[in-house]
Amino acid sequence: MVKEEEKNNHLHNSTKVSKISNPIFSQCSLLLFLFQIFILAKVEAFNYGDALTKSLLYFESQRSGRLPYNQRVTWRDHSGLTDGLEQGVDLVGGYYDAGDHVKFGLPMAFTVTMLSWSVLEFRQEIAAGGELRHAMEAIKWGTDYFIKAHTSPNVLWAEVGDGDTDHYCWQRPEDMTTSRQAYKIDENNPGSDLAGETAAAMAAASIVFKSTNPHYSHLLLQHAQQLFEFGDKYRGKYDGSVGVVKSYYASVSGYMDELLWAALWLYKATDNRVYLNYVIDKANCFGGTGWAISEFSWDVKYAGLQLLATKILMEEKHIDHHGRTILEQYRSKAEYYICSSLNKNNATNNVERTPGGLLYIRQWNNMQYVSTASFLLTIYSDLLKSSGLKLSCHAGMVDHDEIFSFAKSQVDYILGSNPMNMSYLVGFGPNFPQRVHHRGASIVSFRESKGFIGCTQGYDYWYGRDEPNPNVLVGALVGGPDCQDNFGDQRQNYMQTEACTYNTAPLVGVFAKLSQLEDQNLGSHQSLDLIASY
Ligand SMILES: *[C@@H]1O[C@H](CO)[C@@H](O)[C@H](O)[C@H]1NC(C)=O
Ligand SMILES: *[C@@H]1O[C@H](CO)[C@@H](O)[C@H](O)[C@H]1NC(C)=O
Repeated sequence: MVKEEEKNNHLHNSTKVSKISNPIFSQCSLLLFLFQIFILAKVEAFNYGDALTKSLLYFESQRSGRLPYNQRVTWRDHSGLTDGLEQGVDLVGGYYDAGDHVKFGLPMAFTVTMLSWSVLEFRQEIAAGGELRHAMEAIKWGTDYFIKAHTSPNVLWAEVGDGDTDHYCWQRPEDMTTSRQAYKIDENNPGSDLAGETAAAMAAASIVFKSTNPHYSHLLLQHAQQLFEFGDKYRGKYDGSVGVVKSYYASVSGYMDELLWAALWLYKATDNRVYLNYVIDKANCFGGTGWAISEFSWDVKYAGLQLLATKILMEEKHIDHHGRTILEQYRSKAEYYICSSLNKNNATNNVERTPGGLLYIRQWNNMQYVSTASFLLTIYSDLLKSSGLKLSCHAGMVDHDEIFSFAKSQVDYILGSNPMNMSYLVGFGPNFPQRVHHRGASIVSFRESKGFIGCTQGYDYWYGRDEPNPNVLVGALVGGPDCQDNFGDQRQNYMQTEACTYNTAPLVGVFAKLSQLEDQNLGSHQSLDLIASY
């Protein structure tokens, strides 16, 4: 990575040199240029723009409900069209979380928060890659569903279907025969974590749509404010109210992180000090400034909210002394996360790495943590860059370049720079997982073969096959390799070959940023090209 940076500097330097109108200098720079081309050919370069485009296609594969006329993933069709009917509520739409067909509210909301955050940080880069419309569609597919699911101020539908009956079958979503019972949280069955995350998602999305669709943005904000109030007033973990979620998406970190996170997003969306004061007043008793944590996920939001608080501290001027003191404490915990990911905390407080250099948190779906870390590191690096500061870790000072290079190394590992030479982003590059643990992708497309495939028929004929999946789940980020960089491309190996919507979501922004940097480098080649022909 460092080499890549150096290479770019050389290119820029040689551009400067060639501006001096001296023929000898020009010839030198021409030779230097040819030399650079030679070096370039030897350095592995990824097409991040292609990765960005593909990452957004994945969300179309995961769509539940009635698919629109412009659906680009054509092996999918309508599904889940009676969701909510039994309960007398319209719950058609939303996303399947992974390789099954349950609509789990908590990870779906986190996915939408991270897609929105991606757009808020990298809107211009995503637009430059021609993908802003698709990114906004991916967000809206989720928020349209949340609007439906939030049927009154203190009622939010939490889940449709359940893991146990769903996993009993291996079917295409279009053929689904499993239970579609819906579960909700309300005043008597609280779920502050779910209400908080859904509020965060809708508040973040309301900022995304503010300029292009102000009416929709306002609607999202109203829902977000109500949901936050509901979650804050009726406190409790949602898995205590919705028992069926326990063995799938139990909220291990509780709801305090989500309430702080929601309040921060609401502050960003409204500029209303009430929300910032909540984050400051509850910082200590809700663990916001207490927890130093090395992972950021659909369950544990502390690192994300600590980083968001750090941004507010560094970017806003009008915060009183007490507020700044508390935000500094958030910042110190955010820095712990960053230093830990960089392997620069002291010994036992660092994230492990595989021999190939991948951040390694745990065996099952490790890539989700790599993807969120790449996102937070990239944002933090931008923050340092714009403030001209450096980060002080236990093992020394780190600058923004080093942090961004490390984030890039993680993305490059994902895209194929790894001991297996495997892209863990499905459909990217020459070598990617062929047997993703995904019901729809592993069975012949409904569009091609409409004959009903029953519950166990799918297991009998499709699940155990050795052949590659008939449909490529383009843009999905699978669980990824083990602690030794090994990866088994088998459908049964769900710890490694299953993908989730919240794995890909944080990468959207990072791909866009990398893609734009790549384009800028190409731009400097072109200018050299012109000079060479002159
Ligand atoms: C680890 O870091 C902390 C905080 O910087 C420091 O107080 C402590 O002495 C360090 N421990 C070791 C074993 O270096
Ligand atoms: C990956 O590619 C490198 C370089 O081309 C090669 O030496 C190595 O054997 C490959 N590894 C695998 C697992 O294919």
